[in-house]
Amino acid sequence: MEKQTVSSESKNVLLRMEGICKEFPGVKALDNVNLTVKAGTVHALMGENGAGKSTLMKCLFGVYNKNSGHIYFEGREVNFKTSKEALENGVAMVHQELNQALKRNVMDNMWLGRFPKISKWCPLTSEKKMYDATMKVFEELDVHVDPRTVMSQMPVSQRQMVEIAKAVSFNSKIIVFDEPTSSLTEEEVEHLFRIINMLRDRGCGIIYISHKMEEILRISDEVTIMRDGQWVATRPAKELTMNEIIRLMVGRELTNRYPEKDNKVGEPILQVKNLTAQYSLLKDVSFEAKAGEVLGVAGLDGSGRTELLENIFGIATRKEGEIYLHGKRVMNRNARESLANKFAMLTEERRATGIFGIRDIQANTTISSLPKYKKGPFLSDKLMSESTEWGIKAMRTKTPSQKTQIRSLSGGNQQKVILARWLLTDPEVLLLDEPTRGIDVGAKYEIYQLILDLAKQGKTIIMVSSEMPELLGVCDRILVMSGGRLSGEVGAKETSQEEIMTLATKYA
Ligand SMILES: Nc1ncnc2c1ncn2[C@@H]1O[C@H](COP(=O)(O)OP(=O)(O)OP(=O)(O)O)[C@@H](O)[C@H]1O
Ligand SMILES: [Mg+2]
Repeated sequence: MEKQTVSSESKNVLLRMEGICKEFPGVKALDNVNLTVKAGTVHALMGENGAGKSTLMKCLFGVYNKNSGHIYFEGREVNFKTSKEALENGVAMVHQELNQALKRNVMDNMWLGRFPKISKWCPLTSEKKMYDATMKVFEELDVHVDPRTVMSQMPVSQRQMVEIAKAVSFNSKIIVFDEPTSSLTEEEVEHLFRIINMLRDRGCGIIYISHKMEEILRISDEVTIMRDGQWVATRPAKELTMNEIIRLMVGRELTNRYPEKDNKVGEPILQVKNLTAQYSLLKDVSFEAKAGEVLGVAGLDGSGRTELLENIFGIATRKEGEIYLHGKRVMNRNARESLANKFAMLTEERRATGIFGIRDIQANTTISSLPKYKKGPFLSDKLMSESTEWGIKAMRTKTPSQKTQIRSLSGGNQQKVILARWLLTDPEVLLLDEPTRGIDVGAKYEIYQLILDLAKQGKTIIMVSSEMPELLGVCDRILVMSGGRLSGEVGAKETSQEEIMTLATKYA
């Protein structure tokens, strides 16, 4: 590890965090961490899942109380007790896990807790003021969303843009983006980068957390790398290469980003015929998938990729279409029926549809495969704990124990638990929607390996991903969706990113 240096006070320094320590029961999440952010720069924060990135930012933002250390903002020591206080003092944060009021509309979410009043004398909320104020922010940032749209009716990526606009609307001097692009499309990422560049030109300090190496090298001026709750290095981005970042993050060299593909593709076992959704744009999708095959699904956001998986798994209403497994028709009218038919699905939005926050790791791991653990009328604790142990080992999940509440794990580690859950259902057809979102480079490799191992056992894996290199590196074939329809099918070995992009825009 390099010698930790505290940069000297310079006029340019906006934020200095010094010797920050934070402990949770059984976990030393932050151990004497330093971070200095200059005005008018983008400072990237990198590290493996559970390294302490979000925790460090939550200590700044008043979500957590640090155990020791000092925070200086514009030369003054600060210690925000709540996020409201942080916001009022010029520090904003876009959280890794979206926490929005889904039943409320966009503008309610923008102004929650600070609703504009009708007038000084009338304390009622002014809808018009709220609408106008929202439009003003959106226009400035070039966001095209109707402020009256109910949140739950928008795709995750648009909800993320609303969250970003909200953070910017506080006119903060420091804005923390905690994995903002994990659910954004390429176009939206470009949009976000324009916003970030604008904020940088205004003299803001941006703290940017991401597992996407290419992004980091493009957008950031300086990079701080953490490992196991400790500071490892701070370097100008210009001096760093991707391999160097990985080495600093993981503590060892990582030669390949994708494992050797040695699965054997067999006979077709799954037929999907003329699938059309009742409430989404998904229309007339037909394809076959084979035993032992990793079938990718590519497409732009909103092209119907998620809807396709949801329709196969029966969590979205089908209007027409048939599904056959081993030549036998399966109805898959709901998740329970689909599970019984040996389908499993990792959903895109883990937080809303995947996680039982206050339950522990064991419950979250075993909940979908309970029949496996039955011993007479009881569930065998031993069997459940063995399975959970397998999941933790296979995914290298960072957790103090099986009895830890899942919500206290880092974002990436929560994701690993949910993935283990679906693997334990022994599915024949495994549907994965963005399986490596928010997962660090090292752990991604292990997830690819697990996917390929399942394929080797003869399972069929259908995987939606926005990361094209990942589809090309792991899949055998790739279906491309465009405007709710299937616009093409390509062999992963023979195709290129350009060909997929062309197909993706065919009906868009
Ligand atoms: N509320 C909490 N209670 C207990 N432990 C916690 C809590 N929040 C975080 N931790 C632990 O602190 C450590 C650091 O977590 P943190 O969320 O900061 O990681 P991260 O670097 O943001 O990872 P990721 O890339 O997965 O988001 C982890 O071991 C995590 O389990
Ligand atoms: Mg995090």
